[in-house]
Amino acid sequence: MEEFHKVRRLPPYVFEQVNRLKASARAAGADIVDLGMGNPDLPTPQSVVDKLCEAVQDPRTHRYSSSKGIPGLRRAQAAYYERRFGVKLNPDTQIVATLGSKEGFANMAQAITAPGDVVLCPDPTYPIHAFGFIMSGGVIRSIPAMPDDHFIPALERGIRHSIPKPLALILNYPSNPTAHVASLDFYKDVVAFARKNEIIILSDLAYSEIYFDDAPPPSVLQIPGAIDVAVEFTSMSKTFSMPGWRMGFAVGNERLISALTRVKSYLDYGAFTPIQVAAAAALNGDGSDIAEVRAIYKHRRDVLVESFGRAGWPIPAPAATMFAWAPIPEKFRSLGSLEFSKLLIEHADVAVAPGIGFGEHGDDYIRIALVENEHRIRQAARNLKRFLSTADEKLHNVIPLNARR
Ligand SMILES: Cc1ncc(COP(=O)(O)O)c(C=O)c1O
Repeated sequence: MEEFHKVRRLPPYVFEQVNRLKASARAAGADIVDLGMGNPDLPTPQSVVDKLCEAVQDPRTHRYSSSKGIPGLRRAQAAYYERRFGVKLNPDTQIVATLGSKEGFANMAQAITAPGDVVLCPDPTYPIHAFGFIMSGGVIRSIPAMPDDHFIPALERGIRHSIPKPLALILNYPSNPTAHVASLDFYKDVVAFARKNEIIILSDLAYSEIYFDDAPPPSVLQIPGAIDVAVEFTSMSKTFSMPGWRMGFAVGNERLISALTRVKSYLDYGAFTPIQVAAAAALNGDGSDIAEVRAIYKHRRDVLVESFGRAGWPIPAPAATMFAWAPIPEKFRSLGSLEFSKLLIEHADVAVAPGIGFGEHGDDYIRIALVENEHRIRQAARNLKRFLSTADEKLHNVIPLNARR
């Protein structure tokens, strides 16, 4: 029987292949250091867990909640934007809580896309950026992921060569998977471009708080006039180590927020109220929980760069996110990222995410997630050193020539 139209447009998750191999290696007794999925291993701060437990004792919280988010939560998000970015938002019209930022992004795509609408999407990027629109009947035109001098010319070509004119443009800085960070000057140029050409900006700022340089990543909404064209998505998942709680936000342009709020009002009743109460408490905190999480990722990043470098694999130090975007060692590059990732599981007991899973321009890279502790990262480096020292043998004996790109 023919596959459903929508399902046909969703290729099997590339990461699934690596996950299967990882599971079978583990079943055979291998001790795999798992730096694959971006699934934070740190516990949610105790004060946030306590708040949830307290709220759940009140039976009134057991009823359906509010799809757009309880007022206290939206107010807490407005206070966060004002404190962190100096951006004033109206909690009633410019903020909606989402069931994680992924849900918010996907339903925004659903809310605004007509069949055949063109969307400018970075490649490589986090998969929902493209597939949220593909599932909604949109068409993707790839743009570079790097926020450099080539970016605006690529947008101009995107406009010139797309029929119909692109509906929206996706930004994601700090980027998953490349870890690139954008400057305010970059956002200024992009906002000017979007306003001139009447294109919507969807900015994914999931890593707003996971940064290691002195300059925190800016919000696109800091640019005057951005609110006329832009919405931004943030997430509690990484900032407060709350990935399983499913809590995020969309904020910005009223018309876009209202479209998403309308769609969501048909789909959900909001997160469980105690989760929303606890999330508001987290956002209203003094920032010490965030600083602690940031320091842990920074230390892991330093250990990764130092130990992998010594093992013979130099990794550029990411300035933000919980990921390193590592060029595949020259010798192995022609294998492509999926084959190389499989090799790492089978011969180095290390799992990573193949760059191809983020788009065709990611295939010379793998993504390493900082989701195991220092000790385990050093273990991975030791395994890799052993693996790299027998690279020639691996290349010639393990992978048949016809498996190479
Ligand atoms: C760039 C980016 N956006 C969104 C998400 C999804 O986050 P959430 O847990 O808020 O849905 C992730 C998660 O890894 C991400 O890396």
